[in-house]
Amino acid sequence: MISKKMEKALNGQVNAELYSAYLYLSMESYFKSLNLNGFANWMRVQTQEEIMHAMKIYDFIDERGSRITLKAIEGPPTQWDSPRAVFEAAYAHEQKVTGLINGLVDLAIKEKDHATNTFLQWFVNEQVEEEASADAIVQQLKMMEDAPGGLFMLDRELAQRVFTPPPAEGQ
Ligand code: FEO
Repeated sequence: MISKKMEKALNGQVNAELYSAYLYLSMESYFKSLNLNGFANWMRVQTQEEIMHAMKIYDFIDERGSRITLKAIEGPPTQWDSPRAVFEAAYAHEQKVTGLINGLVDLAIKEKDHATNTFLQWFVNEQVEEEASADAIVQQLKMMEDAPGGLFMLDRELAQRVFTPPPAEGQ
């Protein structure tokens, strides 16, 4: 059993992960409107990852005998000025999520909730990757600012990204 405070905070994170999914889905639609289908694919995979993150926390709350309570998901932005602006926003968003995860870890430590702390370590590591992958694309987009052909090359590269579902429990 987890405390009511921890339960509320974890439920809040389910909402934050689903918002992330919604945000990346909106970014996907922006790229589709520009016919940048590789960028759109990258965002679709990111959306799937965020849903996976949400479900991981959802299942954990349930596994600990606590109550899942779903709240409204805020509407994401729908327009950006450029592909670079999208990835800068994605990078800033991931930094914000890292802060939320760190806050959950702080709470788990404060409450001496070792099981939740251990569970959250997967997210601590995941956030390092989440920030790095968004920032890497920001850097690539910055470098190719004066070479428009580069955008199409990167689009082809991002078309390769695939979602790998996590292994089933116990594997
Ligand atoms: Fe679920 Fe992108 O962090």
